[in-house]
Amino acid sequence: MPKVMNRRRPAAASRTSAPPEDRFFRHIVRSMRNGVLALHRDGRLALMNNEAYRIFGLTPRAEDVGRHFSEVLKDPSVLRVVSSAFELSHLPNRAELRLKELNRVIGYTLSQVKDDAGTAIGAVMFFKDLTQVEQLEERERLRDRLASLGEMAAGIAHELKNPLAGIEVMAGLLRRQVSSADAQSLLADILSEAKLANAIVVEMLEFVRPVRLQVERTRLADVIQQSVTMAESKASRGDVNVTLDVQATLPDIEGDQHQLCQVFTNLMANAFEALDGKGRITITAGTSAIQEDPALAGLTQTPAVVVDVADNGPGVPPELTDRIFNPFFTTKPQGSGLGLAIVRKIVDAHDGRIDVSSVAGSGTRFRVTLPVSSGVGWFK
Ligand SMILES: Nc1ncnc2c1ncn2[C@@H]1O[C@H](COP(=O)(O)OP(=O)(O)O)[C@@H](O)[C@H]1O
Ligand SMILES: [Mg+2]
Repeated sequence: MPKVMNRRRPAAASRTSAPPEDRFFRHIVRSMRNGVLALHRDGRLALMNNEAYRIFGLTPRAEDVGRHFSEVLKDPSVLRVVSSAFELSHLPNRAELRLKELNRVIGYTLSQVKDDAGTAIGAVMFFKDLTQVEQLEERERLRDRLASLGEMAAGIAHELKNPLAGIEVMAGLLRRQVSSADAQSLLADILSEAKLANAIVVEMLEFVRPVRLQVERTRLADVIQQSVTMAESKASRGDVNVTLDVQATLPDIEGDQHQLCQVFTNLMANAFEALDGKGRITITAGTSAIQEDPALAGLTQTPAVVVDVADNGPGVPPELTDRIFNPFFTTKPQGSGLGLAIVRKIVDAHDGRIDVSSVAGSGTRFRVTLPVSSGVGWFK
């Protein structure tokens, strides 16, 4: 029972005998979905509801009422705001506060509690946990930033393509005109560097371009076969042994053949590069079901095709597995770091999944799970 009221109505001091309207007010405050924190003029805690305890990460304790607020609240930024309640002439109405230690953001309003004579006898803070709102806004900002970065990157990549093609053509012409072996070898270097730069520009354009799927019935066995050939043109295969094990009854899926081909090409090119000319790649394709939400077992089972691309190369160190799908993450001196970012983007566009599992020293397995039909019975 706040002390403020005791002065006017001493009879209502005990909780059990509080008049019904007082109890009702107490219930309002307790049930509020906002945090409420009220102090007496001398800094003693008058009230703190459950939501306030939750937001501050504290456990509700009856004995907190009546103690000085600094003994109850620990976060320095909250202490600062609450202490200012009696000092500021203009109290904030809708301010935000970051609780560093709790990694939370709250939006709050601070008011003074005045008695009938207009004297400030306390202060009250109403607040709401804005952490999720803040995270959503942050994601939105990031998306906007990425979209404009993407546009810029696409523009630059496009502009670079022409001069790079020019360098290639002219170096080729010059190669036919000079006879010295030194000059020939320099020109060969220029050509191969220009080709590499061009390949990066092409990948960059692929990465920033929004995915638009041309969905058709796709036989994955054909797509995978084609990808092996494409990967050989991207990375050198050497003596690497490639085994294909496609389930005979594998259903056709609804997907974009060209883009799915790129998924497996990139995965295989990476495997070739990891194996460095010797080793084994095993591609296995079978059926499965994707379960969207375990709580809805049975309802959300979606027929899916699972393709594993496994190599017996050096593996991905555990501390890097979270980062390999990030754009521009590469451990290769000549790498663009866009291969897996493109893979993820295409798999996402198909409502599929990609997982990696790797054991240092014994290999890496990328598992691509794709729904057999896109959008049908597929809960998002
Ligand atoms: N099969 C693999 N074995 C080991 N490491 C791999 C494999 N595939 C990808 N990686 C790691 O993931 C990184 C990112 O791959 P990617 O996005 O294709 O970019 P890039 O091939 O240009 O480096 C590679 O640099 C490599 O460190
Ligand atoms: Mg790659």
